[in-house]
Amino acid sequence: MGVPIQIHDKQFSLFIPSDFILNEVESLANRLELDYEEKNPIFLVVLNGAFMFAADLLKFYNKNCDISFIKLSSYKGFESTGTVDQQMELLIDVKDRHVIIVEDIVDTGLTIESLTRNLKKLNPASIEICSLLFKPEAFKGTIPPKYQGFVIANKFVLGYGLDYNERGRNLKDLYQLKEN
Ligand code: IMP
Ligand code: MG
Repeated sequence: MGVPIQIHDKQFSLFIPSDFILNEVESLANRLELDYEEKNPIFLVVLNGAFMFAADLLKFYNKNCDISFIKLSSYKGFESTGTVDQQMELLIDVKDRHVIIVEDIVDTGLTIESLTRNLKKLNPASIEICSLLFKPEAFKGTIPPKYQGFVIANKFVLGYGLDYNERGRNLKDLYQLKEN
């Protein structure tokens, strides 16, 4: 597993290396291209965590699309706070449009549930979730993401956009919290 890295007070070991991640991201983009063909979807990227995934996903997505961002926050340290804080307004008109929410990870599912509920009020043509990571054991929602990259155990991960108290987002690989 290589030498662990230290972020703040914790150690993390290599979990999914960059080339594996990019392979998976490319196949997600291919699936989306087939499903959305001429639909000109809106990719709605959930900041901050999904910025790196979205950048790679959209480089592999070679059809017309719009890209917009929303900033939501629910995590502190290693745990969900149980409430979703919206820190930025929605800057695009989603009425009658096909929306693909781009998330780094679906954990409890609270973030996508709250975002989906709010978006529905704006009458989009459709809403689907595309998440790089999915933790089924932590999931409390009803509908799992339609587009999932890696299904992972209920352990804290970081890197490739995901942080531990704002550190680690710039790592190109994914890391997992090391048990002592
Ligand atoms: P949910 O609302 O519980 O599904 O959590 C969604 C958000 O919490 C994600 O978009 C991440 O930003 C953050 N999160 C959940 N699990 C992890 C993790 O293992 N590492 C880093 N961030 C996480
Ligand atoms: Mg996130």
